[in-house]
Amino acid sequence: MIGVRNGARSCARLAAVGAHVPERVVTNAEMAAAVDTSDEWIATRTGIRERRFAGPEEASSDLGVIAAQRILAAADLAPDELDMIITPTASPDHIFPSTAAIIGERIGARGAAAFDLSAACTGFIYGLAMATGMVETGLARHVLVLGAETLTRVTDQTDRATCVLFGDGAAGALISAAAEDEATGFLGFELGADGSGGPDLILPAGGSRIPALSKPSRAESCINMNGREVFKFATRVMIDSCTRLLEALEMDIAEVDLLVPHQANIRIIDYAVERLGIDPERVFNNVDRYGNTSSASIPLALSEAHDNGLLSPGDLVMMVGFGGGLTWGSTMARFEPA
Ligand code: UT7
Repeated sequence: MIGVRNGARSCARLAAVGAHVPERVVTNAEMAAAVDTSDEWIATRTGIRERRFAGPEEASSDLGVIAAQRILAAADLAPDELDMIITPTASPDHIFPSTAAIIGERIGARGAAAFDLSAACTGFIYGLAMATGMVETGLARHVLVLGAETLTRVTDQTDRATCVLFGDGAAGALISAAAEDEATGFLGFELGADGSGGPDLILPAGGSRIPALSKPSRAESCINMNGREVFKFATRVMIDSCTRLLEALEMDIAEVDLLVPHQANIRIIDYAVERLGIDPERVFNNVDRYGNTSSASIPLALSEAHDNGLLSPGDLVMMVGFGGGLTWGSTMARFEPA
Protein backbone atom coordinates (compact mmCIF):
# COMPACT_ATOMS: atom_id res chain seq x y z
CA MET A 1 0.00 0.00 0.00
CA ILE A 2 0.97 3.63 -0.33
CA GLY A 3 -0.67 6.25 1.82
CA VAL A 4 -0.31 10.02 1.61
CA ARG A 5 -2.03 12.53 3.84
CA ASN A 6 -3.90 14.71 1.40
CA GLY A 7 -5.89 16.84 3.79
CA ALA A 8 -9.16 15.03 3.10
CA ARG A 9 -10.78 13.87 6.30
CA SER A 10 -12.46 10.52 6.39
CA CYS A 11 -14.24 8.42 8.92
CA ALA A 12 -13.44 4.78 9.67
CA ARG A 13 -16.53 2.68 9.09
CA LEU A 14 -17.22 -0.76 10.59
CA ALA A 15 -18.16 -2.08 7.15
CA ALA A 16 -18.44 -5.88 7.44
CA VAL A 17 -17.91 -8.77 9.84
CA GLY A 18 -17.36 -12.49 9.32
CA ALA A 19 -16.02 -15.68 10.89
CA HIS A 20 -15.02 -19.28 10.35
CA VAL A 21 -14.64 -22.09 12.89
CA PRO A 22 -13.27 -25.60 12.32
CA GLU A 23 -15.74 -28.44 11.95
CA ARG A 24 -14.79 -30.60 14.91
CA VAL A 25 -16.98 -29.97 17.98
CA VAL A 26 -15.50 -31.14 21.30
CA THR A 27 -18.06 -31.35 24.08
CA ASN A 28 -17.45 -31.15 27.82
CA ALA A 29 -18.22 -34.88 27.98
CA GLU A 30 -15.31 -35.52 25.60
CA MET A 31 -13.03 -33.34 27.73
CA ALA A 32 -14.16 -35.27 30.82
CA ALA A 33 -13.18 -38.53 29.12
CA ALA A 34 -9.64 -37.15 28.61
CA VAL A 35 -8.91 -35.29 31.89
CA ASP A 36 -10.22 -35.28 35.47
CA THR A 37 -13.12 -32.85 34.99
CA SER A 38 -16.89 -32.91 34.44
CA ASP A 39 -19.51 -31.22 32.31
CA GLU A 40 -20.98 -29.84 35.52
CA TRP A 41 -17.68 -28.23 36.67
CA ILE A 42 -16.91 -26.68 33.29
CA ALA A 43 -20.46 -25.43 32.67
CA THR A 44 -20.98 -23.89 36.11
CA ARG A 45 -17.48 -22.37 36.45
CA THR A 46 -17.13 -21.07 32.89
CA GLY A 47 -20.41 -21.35 30.94
CA ILE A 48 -18.61 -23.40 28.26
CA ARG A 49 -20.40 -26.48 26.89
CA GLU A 50 -18.36 -27.17 23.77
CA ARG A 51 -15.52 -25.72 21.69
CA ARG A 52 -14.01 -26.30 18.24
CA PHE A 53 -10.71 -28.04 17.54
CA ALA A 54 -8.78 -27.43 14.33
CA GLY A 55 -7.88 -30.54 12.33
CA PRO A 56 -4.30 -31.89 12.52
CA GLU A 57 -3.35 -30.13 9.26
CA GLU A 58 -5.16 -26.87 10.02
CA ALA A 59 -3.16 -23.85 11.22
CA SER A 60 -4.42 -20.40 12.21
CA SER A 61 -3.98 -19.00 8.69
CA ASP A 62 -6.14 -21.81 7.23
CA LEU A 63 -9.05 -20.69 9.42
CA GLY A 64 -8.22 -17.04 8.73
CA VAL A 65 -8.32 -17.41 4.94
CA ILE A 66 -11.94 -18.63 5.00
CA ALA A 67 -13.02 -15.93 7.46
CA ALA A 68 -11.29 -13.26 5.34
CA GLN A 69 -13.03 -14.44 2.19
CA ARG A 70 -16.40 -14.27 3.96
CA ILE A 71 -15.76 -10.72 5.18
CA LEU A 72 -14.71 -9.52 1.72
CA ALA A 73 -17.78 -11.19 0.17
CA ALA A 74 -20.05 -9.48 2.72
CA ALA A 75 -18.49 -6.12 1.83
CA ASP A 76 -18.38 -6.90 -1.91
CA LEU A 77 -14.72 -5.88 -1.89
CA ALA A 78 -12.04 -7.40 -4.15
CA PRO A 79 -9.01 -8.70 -2.20
CA ASP A 80 -6.61 -6.50 -4.14
CA GLU A 81 -8.44 -3.44 -2.81
CA LEU A 82 -7.23 -4.18 0.72
CA ASP A 83 -4.49 -1.81 1.87
CA MET A 84 -3.59 -3.61 5.07
CA ILE A 85 -4.21 -6.84 6.97
CA ILE A 86 -3.74 -6.84 10.74
CA THR A 87 -3.88 -10.25 12.39
CA PRO A 88 -4.08 -10.19 16.15
CA THR A 89 -3.09 -13.69 17.24
CA ALA A 90 -1.64 -15.55 20.20
CA SER A 91 -1.15 -18.68 18.09
CA PRO A 92 0.41 -17.54 14.79
CA ASP A 93 1.47 -20.09 12.19
CA HIS A 94 5.09 -19.06 12.86
CA ILE A 95 6.95 -16.30 14.71
CA PHE A 96 7.63 -15.05 11.18
CA PRO A 97 6.49 -14.72 8.46
CA SER A 98 3.37 -13.17 9.89
CA THR A 99 0.09 -15.03 9.70
CA ALA A 100 -1.35 -11.84 8.18
CA ALA A 101 1.11 -12.02 5.25
CA ILE A 102 0.28 -15.70 4.69
CA ILE A 103 -3.45 -14.92 4.67
CA GLY A 104 -2.90 -11.93 2.36
CA GLU A 105 -1.04 -14.06 -0.17
CA ARG A 106 -3.66 -16.80 -0.12
CA ILE A 107 -6.67 -14.51 -0.56
CA GLY A 108 -4.99 -12.52 -3.36
CA ALA A 109 -4.40 -9.30 -1.41
CA ARG A 110 -1.03 -8.82 -3.08
CA GLY A 111 0.74 -5.64 -2.07
CA ALA A 112 -1.35 -5.12 1.04
CA ALA A 113 0.74 -4.35 4.11
CA ALA A 114 0.42 -7.20 6.61
CA PHE A 115 1.50 -7.83 10.18
CA ASP A 116 0.54 -9.79 13.30
CA LEU A 117 -0.34 -8.00 16.51
CA SER A 118 0.53 -9.36 19.95
CA ALA A 119 -2.02 -8.30 22.55
CA ALA A 120 -3.52 -11.77 23.23
CA CYS A 121 -7.30 -11.70 23.75
CA THR A 122 -7.42 -7.87 23.53
CA GLY A 123 -5.78 -8.02 20.10
CA PHE A 124 -8.96 -7.40 18.12
CA ILE A 125 -9.70 -4.13 19.97
CA TYR A 126 -6.06 -3.00 19.58
CA GLY A 127 -6.27 -3.91 15.87
CA LEU A 128 -9.46 -1.88 15.42
CA ALA A 129 -7.70 1.12 16.97
CA MET A 130 -4.74 0.73 14.57
CA ALA A 131 -7.10 0.36 11.58
CA THR A 132 -9.11 3.42 12.62
CA GLY A 133 -5.93 5.49 12.88
CA MET A 134 -4.76 4.38 9.43
CA VAL A 135 -8.10 5.10 7.78
CA GLU A 136 -8.85 8.39 9.52
CA THR A 137 -5.42 9.86 8.68
CA GLY A 138 -6.05 8.98 5.04
CA LEU A 139 -3.15 6.48 4.90
CA ALA A 140 -5.39 3.51 4.05
CA ARG A 141 -8.89 2.98 2.65
CA HIS A 142 -9.60 -0.64 3.54
CA VAL A 143 -8.05 -2.49 6.50
CA LEU A 144 -8.91 -6.04 7.47
CA VAL A 145 -8.58 -6.83 11.19
CA LEU A 146 -8.71 -10.59 11.45
CA GLY A 147 -8.14 -12.62 14.62
CA ALA A 148 -6.95 -16.15 13.77
CA GLU A 149 -6.30 -18.70 16.48
CA THR A 150 -5.52 -22.36 17.03
CA LEU A 151 -5.03 -22.11 20.78
CA THR A 152 -5.61 -25.83 21.25
CA ARG A 153 -2.10 -26.26 19.72
CA VAL A 154 -0.48 -24.29 22.52
CA THR A 155 -2.62 -25.64 25.35
CA ASP A 156 -1.54 -28.66 27.39
CA GLN A 157 -4.42 -31.04 26.70
CA THR A 158 -3.56 -32.94 29.90
CA ASP A 159 -3.90 -29.82 32.11
CA ARG A 160 -7.54 -29.57 33.21
CA ALA A 161 -7.06 -26.01 34.49
CA THR A 162 -6.51 -24.68 30.96
CA CYS A 163 -7.52 -27.28 28.36
CA VAL A 164 -11.26 -26.96 29.02
CA LEU A 165 -11.19 -23.20 28.38
CA PHE A 166 -9.76 -22.65 24.90
CA GLY A 167 -11.01 -23.29 21.38
CA ASP A 168 -10.03 -22.56 17.78
CA GLY A 169 -11.51 -20.10 15.27
CA ALA A 170 -10.98 -17.03 13.13
CA ALA A 171 -13.08 -13.89 12.81
CA GLY A 172 -12.72 -10.25 12.01
CA ALA A 173 -14.00 -7.04 10.54
CA LEU A 174 -13.37 -4.78 7.56
CA ILE A 175 -12.70 -1.14 8.41
CA SER A 176 -13.24 1.14 5.42
CA ALA A 177 -13.04 4.85 4.71
CA ALA A 178 -16.22 6.86 4.40
CA ALA A 179 -16.70 10.58 3.99
CA GLU A 180 -16.94 12.32 7.35
CA ASP A 181 -20.58 13.29 6.87
CA GLU A 182 -21.54 9.75 5.72
CA ALA A 183 -20.52 7.80 8.78
CA THR A 184 -19.95 8.12 12.49
CA GLY A 185 -17.61 5.14 12.70
CA PHE A 186 -15.55 4.47 15.81
CA LEU A 187 -16.42 6.99 18.50
CA GLY A 188 -13.52 6.17 20.79
CA PHE A 189 -11.12 3.64 22.30
CA GLU A 190 -9.84 2.95 25.79
CA LEU A 191 -6.74 0.74 25.72
CA GLY A 192 -4.16 -0.24 28.29
CA ALA A 193 -1.60 -2.74 29.55
CA ASP A 194 -0.09 -3.73 32.86
CA GLY A 195 3.08 -5.69 32.23
CA SER A 196 3.45 -6.55 35.91
CA GLY A 197 0.71 -9.17 35.37
CA GLY A 198 2.52 -10.73 32.39
CA PRO A 199 3.50 -13.92 34.27
CA ASP A 200 -0.19 -14.57 35.13
CA LEU A 201 -0.94 -15.51 31.51
CA ILE A 202 2.07 -16.60 29.51
CA LEU A 203 3.32 -18.93 26.81
CA PRO A 204 6.96 -19.04 27.94
CA ALA A 205 8.81 -20.77 25.11
CA GLY A 206 9.42 -20.14 21.43
CA GLY A 207 10.80 -16.60 21.68
CA SER A 208 14.26 -15.31 22.60
CA ARG A 209 13.91 -15.97 26.36
CA ILE A 210 13.38 -19.72 25.93
CA PRO A 211 14.18 -20.44 22.29
CA ALA A 212 12.73 -23.46 20.50
CA LEU A 213 16.36 -24.62 19.98
CA SER A 214 16.79 -24.97 23.76
CA LYS A 215 14.25 -27.82 23.69
CA PRO A 216 11.78 -26.31 26.16
CA SER A 217 9.78 -28.50 28.51
CA ARG A 218 6.13 -29.36 27.89
CA ALA A 219 5.01 -26.83 30.52
CA GLU A 220 7.13 -24.09 28.94
CA SER A 221 5.62 -24.81 25.53
CA CYS A 222 2.01 -24.33 26.65
CA ILE A 223 -0.22 -21.60 28.04
CA ASN A 224 0.43 -21.11 31.78
CA MET A 225 -2.30 -19.25 33.63
CA ASN A 226 -2.99 -18.04 37.13
CA GLY A 227 -6.76 -18.37 36.70
CA ARG A 228 -7.83 -16.61 39.89
CA GLU A 229 -5.61 -13.56 39.28
CA VAL A 230 -6.73 -13.26 35.66
CA PHE A 231 -10.35 -13.57 36.80
CA LYS A 232 -9.95 -10.67 39.26
CA PHE A 233 -8.11 -8.56 36.70
CA ALA A 234 -10.73 -9.31 34.00
CA THR A 235 -13.75 -8.29 36.04
CA ARG A 236 -12.02 -5.09 37.19
CA VAL A 237 -10.81 -3.92 33.77
CA MET A 238 -14.01 -4.80 31.93
CA ILE A 239 -15.96 -2.52 34.24
CA ASP A 240 -13.28 0.21 34.44
CA SER A 241 -12.57 0.32 30.71
CA CYS A 242 -16.25 0.55 29.72
CA THR A 243 -16.92 3.15 32.41
CA ARG A 244 -13.96 5.32 31.38
CA LEU A 245 -14.95 5.13 27.71
CA LEU A 246 -18.58 6.01 28.43
CA GLU A 247 -17.48 8.95 30.59
CA ALA A 248 -15.10 10.23 27.89
CA LEU A 249 -17.89 9.98 25.30
CA GLU A 250 -20.42 11.54 27.72
CA MET A 251 -22.70 8.62 27.02
CA ASP A 252 -24.88 6.38 29.12
CA ILE A 253 -24.73 2.57 28.89
CA ALA A 254 -28.48 2.64 28.06
CA GLU A 255 -27.56 4.14 24.66
CA VAL A 256 -25.61 1.00 23.69
CA ASP A 257 -27.60 -1.31 21.38
CA LEU A 258 -25.28 -4.29 21.78
CA LEU A 259 -22.39 -5.05 24.13
CA VAL A 260 -20.00 -7.68 22.78
CA PRO A 261 -17.52 -8.71 25.48
CA HIS A 262 -14.53 -11.02 25.15
CA GLN A 263 -15.84 -14.57 25.58
CA ALA A 264 -13.64 -16.15 28.26
CA ASN A 265 -15.96 -17.02 31.12
CA ILE A 266 -19.68 -16.31 31.53
CA ARG A 267 -19.15 -15.55 35.23
CA ILE A 268 -16.73 -12.72 34.35
CA ILE A 269 -19.23 -11.34 31.83
CA ASP A 270 -22.29 -11.66 34.11
CA TYR A 271 -20.49 -9.90 36.96
CA ALA A 272 -19.39 -7.00 34.74
CA VAL A 273 -22.78 -6.74 33.04
CA GLU A 274 -24.53 -6.44 36.38
CA ARG A 275 -22.12 -3.79 37.64
CA LEU A 276 -22.30 -1.81 34.39
CA GLY A 277 -26.09 -1.86 34.62
CA ILE A 278 -26.75 -2.87 31.01
CA ASP A 279 -29.83 -4.96 30.18
CA PRO A 280 -28.52 -8.56 29.72
CA GLU A 281 -30.76 -8.81 26.62
CA ARG A 282 -28.35 -6.33 25.00
CA VAL A 283 -25.27 -8.45 25.64
CA PHE A 284 -24.27 -11.09 23.11
CA ASN A 285 -22.55 -14.26 24.32
CA ASN A 286 -21.54 -17.48 22.59
CA VAL A 287 -18.85 -18.74 24.99
CA ASP A 288 -21.06 -21.82 25.56
CA ARG A 289 -20.35 -23.04 22.01
CA TYR A 290 -16.81 -21.87 21.28
CA GLY A 291 -14.99 -21.40 24.59
CA ASN A 292 -12.23 -18.78 24.60
CA THR A 293 -10.90 -18.19 21.08
CA SER A 294 -8.68 -15.28 22.21
CA SER A 295 -8.34 -12.59 19.51
CA ALA A 296 -11.13 -14.23 17.46
CA SER A 297 -13.62 -14.21 20.31
CA ILE A 298 -15.08 -10.68 20.05
CA PRO A 299 -15.46 -10.71 16.24
CA LEU A 300 -16.80 -14.27 16.36
CA ALA A 301 -19.54 -13.07 18.72
CA LEU A 302 -20.08 -9.91 16.65
CA SER A 303 -20.41 -11.94 13.47
CA GLU A 304 -22.83 -14.41 15.04
CA ALA A 305 -24.92 -11.56 16.47
CA HIS A 306 -25.10 -10.15 12.94
CA ASP A 307 -26.07 -13.54 11.46
CA ASN A 308 -28.81 -13.83 14.12
CA GLY A 309 -30.26 -10.46 13.12
CA LEU A 310 -29.18 -8.76 16.36
CA LEU A 311 -26.94 -6.21 14.65
CA SER A 312 -28.66 -3.73 12.33
CA PRO A 313 -27.17 -0.86 10.33
CA GLY A 314 -26.76 2.18 12.56
CA ASP A 315 -26.60 0.16 15.78
CA LEU A 316 -24.21 1.35 18.45
CA VAL A 317 -21.93 -1.53 19.46
CA MET A 318 -19.63 -1.53 22.45
CA MET A 319 -16.84 -4.12 22.54
CA VAL A 320 -14.56 -4.88 25.46
CA GLY A 321 -11.67 -7.30 25.89
CA PHE A 322 -8.90 -8.35 28.28
CA GLY A 323 -6.07 -10.84 28.17
CA GLY A 324 -2.37 -11.64 28.19
CA GLY A 325 0.02 -8.76 28.67
CA LEU A 326 -1.97 -8.16 30.76
CA THR A 327 -3.93 -5.99 28.35
CA TRP A 328 -7.41 -4.54 28.11
CA GLY A 329 -9.41 -2.41 25.73
CA SER A 330 -12.86 -1.20 24.78
CA THR A 331 -14.39 0.66 21.87
CA MET A 332 -17.70 2.11 20.77
CA ALA A 333 -18.68 1.94 17.11
CA ARG A 334 -21.65 2.29 14.82
CA PHE A 335 -22.22 -0.71 12.57
CA GLU A 336 -22.33 0.89 9.14
CA PRO A 337 -22.17 -1.70 6.36
CA ALA A 338 -21.05 -0.32 2.99
O1 UT7 B 1 -8.74 -14.54 27.90
C1 UT7 B 1 -8.28 -14.50 29.19
C2 UT7 B 1 -7.94 -15.91 29.57
N1 UT7 B 1 -8.24 -16.42 30.82
C3 UT7 B 1 -9.35 -16.21 31.58
O2 UT7 B 1 -10.22 -15.42 31.33
C4 UT7 B 1 -9.46 -17.07 32.81
C5 UT7 B 1 -9.95 -16.34 34.03
N2 UT7 B 1 -10.14 -17.29 35.11
C6 UT7 B 1 -11.20 -18.14 35.13
O3 UT7 B 1 -12.02 -18.13 34.25
C7 UT7 B 1 -11.33 -19.06 36.33
O4 UT7 B 1 -10.40 -18.70 37.31
C8 UT7 B 1 -11.17 -20.56 35.97
C9 UT7 B 1 -12.34 -21.04 35.12
C10 UT7 B 1 -9.87 -20.78 35.20
C11 UT7 B 1 -11.13 -21.40 37.23
O5 UT7 B 1 -12.31 -21.18 37.99
P1 UT7 B 1 -12.23 -20.87 39.54
O6 UT7 B 1 -13.60 -20.79 40.04
O7 UT7 B 1 -11.34 -19.64 39.68
O8 UT7 B 1 -11.53 -22.16 40.10
P2 UT7 B 1 -10.15 -22.30 40.90
O9 UT7 B 1 -8.99 -22.03 39.99
O10 UT7 B 1 -10.27 -21.50 42.14
O11 UT7 B 1 -10.17 -23.84 41.23
C12 UT7 B 1 -11.17 -24.41 42.08
C13 UT7 B 1 -10.94 -25.90 42.13
C14 UT7 B 1 -9.50 -26.30 42.39
O12 UT7 B 1 -9.49 -27.41 43.25
P3 UT7 B 1 -9.18 -27.22 44.82
O13 UT7 B 1 -7.84 -26.57 44.89
O14 UT7 B 1 -10.29 -26.32 45.32
O15 UT7 B 1 -9.25 -28.62 45.33
C15 UT7 B 1 -9.00 -26.73 41.03
O16 UT7 B 1 -7.99 -27.70 41.10
O17 UT7 B 1 -11.31 -26.48 40.87
C16 UT7 B 1 -10.24 -27.32 40.42
N3 UT7 B 1 -10.26 -27.34 38.98
C17 UT7 B 1 -11.03 -28.17 38.26
N4 UT7 B 1 -11.88 -29.14 38.63
C18 UT7 B 1 -12.53 -29.79 37.66
C19 UT7 B 1 -9.58 -26.53 38.11
N5 UT7 B 1 -9.90 -26.85 36.85
C20 UT7 B 1 -10.79 -27.85 36.91
C21 UT7 B 1 -11.48 -28.60 35.93
N6 UT7 B 1 -12.35 -29.55 36.35
N7 UT7 B 1 -11.34 -28.37 34.61
